[in-house]
Amino acid sequence: MRRKRLTFIAALSLLALALLHPHAALTAALVFVILVLTIMWPAREGARRNDGDGRPSDQTWPDSGMKAVLEALQEAALIIDRDLLIRYRNPVSAVAFGNMALADPLSLRFRSPELLASIETAITNAVATTAILEERRPIERHWLVEVLPVPAPQGMPPVFFLVLFHDRTAERRVERMRSDFVANASHELRTPLASLSGFIETLQGPARDDPQARDRFLAIMREQATRMSRLIDDLLSLSRIEMRRHVAPQSQADLVAVLAKVRSQLTPLAEGLGVELGFESCEDQVLVVGDEDELIQVFANLIENACKYGAEGGRVEISLRRATERGQPVVDASVRDFGPGIPAEHVPRLTERFYRVDVGNSRAKRGTGLGLSIVRNILLRHRSRLIVDSVVGHGSTFTARFPAFAENDAESAKTLEMQ
Ligand SMILES: Nc1ncnc2c1ncn2[C@@H]1O[C@H](COP(=O)(O)OP(=O)(O)OP(=O)(O)O)[C@@H](O)[C@H]1O
Ligand SMILES: [Mg+2]
Repeated sequence: MRRKRLTFIAALSLLALALLHPHAALTAALVFVILVLTIMWPAREGARRNDGDGRPSDQTWPDSGMKAVLEALQEAALIIDRDLLIRYRNPVSAVAFGNMALADPLSLRFRSPELLASIETAITNAVATTAILEERRPIERHWLVEVLPVPAPQGMPPVFFLVLFHDRTAERRVERMRSDFVANASHELRTPLASLSGFIETLQGPARDDPQARDRFLAIMREQATRMSRLIDDLLSLSRIEMRRHVAPQSQADLVAVLAKVRSQLTPLAEGLGVELGFESCEDQVLVVGDEDELIQVFANLIENACKYGAEGGRVEISLRRATERGQPVVDASVRDFGPGIPAEHVPRLTERFYRVDVGNSRAKRGTGLGLSIVRNILLRHRSRLIVDSVVGHGSTFTARFPAFAENDAESAKTLEMQ
């Protein structure tokens, strides 16, 4: 439209010039032809690449039907052309990969040689291909990418290629956790087992007639066997709890009674380590929806950890308090020690299975690294969570935060169950 108007104005001006000055008519006609050609030239060039609103013409842009299908997809999807230029991208792809400008080369955003090679193969041979895409930043993510040629009219090579990104991050994480778990569990079992067979060989060989060595070795063997059976118990307990994680407990438990029981169970251990166990409660009875045995397991591990790893503080404080979280009443059951504390980078990983800040130290204290993982799973089942506060050099506080249970409020238990 703009070009037509310009041509028209130029023609009018030259006509007026020719009329006013007849000798200049020939020059004017020549200038007119040059002007028209100059104006038309970019228009023809543009027609190949752009339509009226600055976008490429229909041949290089997918139609609205194709775009609508991509919009409906819940996975990131792009349409590219044979030159690997992005011709369309759906909203999910913007969330997954950030905004990509239309008509930009795909390689501006994706550098993976495997992905680019798979796209090249799809374009050259007009076949569907797949590739794995892994990104490490800002977080680790994995995709299975399918490159699918969009069929063109009969006999024509495909113009567009659909690039579909199936997010496999969660599956990969579960797979890795499972294999890590198997590797860790077998490693933890293999160590005492290797030590046992070593002692058996020694007893059958060089120490056969040495009653003193035999007694010493048998004591170590007994310890290793106990360690193995404890590990197996913990593993079974963890798998049982994980299976029931989504089933809310049906009974009520009194946290005051639970903590008092655990305290008296662990008093000998605390005394042995020179730790004083203090207990303070806001009320005589603090009810929560919960399974008493499982709650005993939670606090036994938290208090045992505080005594074992925070022994040098000489004191462990157990406390029960009421608080509010986002306007909701909660009950905080805390175990505080005054030991060396835990460096911040370890805190988020403490509840991973087999995770230990100092493996040697934990093993020396007969730890298996499963305790906090069991705690986390039991608390999840209780709609409760673990809050860890630790300052290196000052000690750690492990708090189990429960939703408050209103006494005589039977509905409360039902609501929790349904959540
Ligand atoms: N109060 C604490 N102070 C310092 N470090 C702690 C404390 N509690 C836990 N940790 C660290 O967290 C790690 C994980 O604890 P967790 O209870 O899961 O395993 P564990 O005590 O080693 O073994 P388990 O509980 O199975 O006997 C411990 O090995 C220890 O390094
Ligand atoms: Mg522990």
